[in-house]
Amino acid sequence: MRLLLIGPPGSGKGTQAVHLAEHYGIAHISSGDLLRRHVAENTTIGRTVAARIHRGDLVPDSIVMDILRKPVEAATRDGGYILDGFPRTVEQAETAYRVAERLGAEVRIAVYLTAARPELIRRLLARGAQTGRTDDTEHVIGHRLDVFDNAATPLLDYYRKRETLITIDGDRPEAEVTQAAITHLDRARRDLGLPEHRRTPAPVAADDTKLTATVAMPGHPTPHAARSRQNTGGGPVPPQRPAGW
Ligand code: AP5
Repeated sequence: MRLLLIGPPGSGKGTQAVHLAEHYGIAHISSGDLLRRHVAENTTIGRTVAARIHRGDLVPDSIVMDILRKPVEAATRDGGYILDGFPRTVEQAETAYRVAERLGAEVRIAVYLTAARPELIRRLLARGAQTGRTDDTEHVIGHRLDVFDNAATPLLDYYRKRETLITIDGDRPEAEVTQAAITHLDRARRDLGLPEHRRTPAPVAADDTKLTATVAMPGHPTPHAARSRQNTGGGPVPPQRPAGW
């Protein structure tokens, strides 16, 4: 099982990736965590990227691809992964596609976590105060959100056109978001005819109608075109081509 988790800073990518990795028994790979580890260990890569991370700018694609390659290849061999924070741009997505094609490791589903900007800022400022993460300051948070917004539309279109894109409202309690993601991922996998991938029994949704995810299948270009149940009801449309990692 290979999943991509896309969303603005503070939307809960890291938080949800931990829960989903645990639920499905797959590896959690975070580009941000890997980069911060390089900075903390003062490696050559860390020294190259530190200022960009501090400013809230994206790190060059070549570096990101370089640090992700080994963990992604290893996790592909070991049953799968959830990739949090990658890709950030269409360029990264296209490069990942070329790599995945060679590995035979295409991603079929991307999850897009959303939350309103004031909530994102509130969460990140709270975390900054608690942990001292250097890019969790008001000015840098604003810039990180702008960087995401600038790249988001083409990136989401890329996945919407090529693969299944599940949009999840992340502006709810953590456990509800996890439950919604699992419910919609399992449904999308069934619709795509993918084998069941579950390490632990799935929690039972108390009231599935409360879930506010939308699922865009290839050929359904608008994210809000239909609620997932309606949208997946007719079965999957074969993707034009795999989207990569
Ligand atoms: P990265 O580490 O990926 O940071 P980010 O995208 O800014 O995301 P965050 O980690 O801030 O937020 P998140 O969405 O993971 O939310 P989280 O679960 O932590 O990247 C950092 C930097 O590295 C980038 O700016 C860039 O420089 C570089 N980089 C990384 N990847 C790159 C790439 N592919 N290309 C180029 N450069 C790259 O939650 C945030 C807070 O909210 C936590 O305190 C959490 O407890 C809380 N929270 C989570 N969910 C909820 C909820 N449902 N309700 C209430 N609180 C919640």
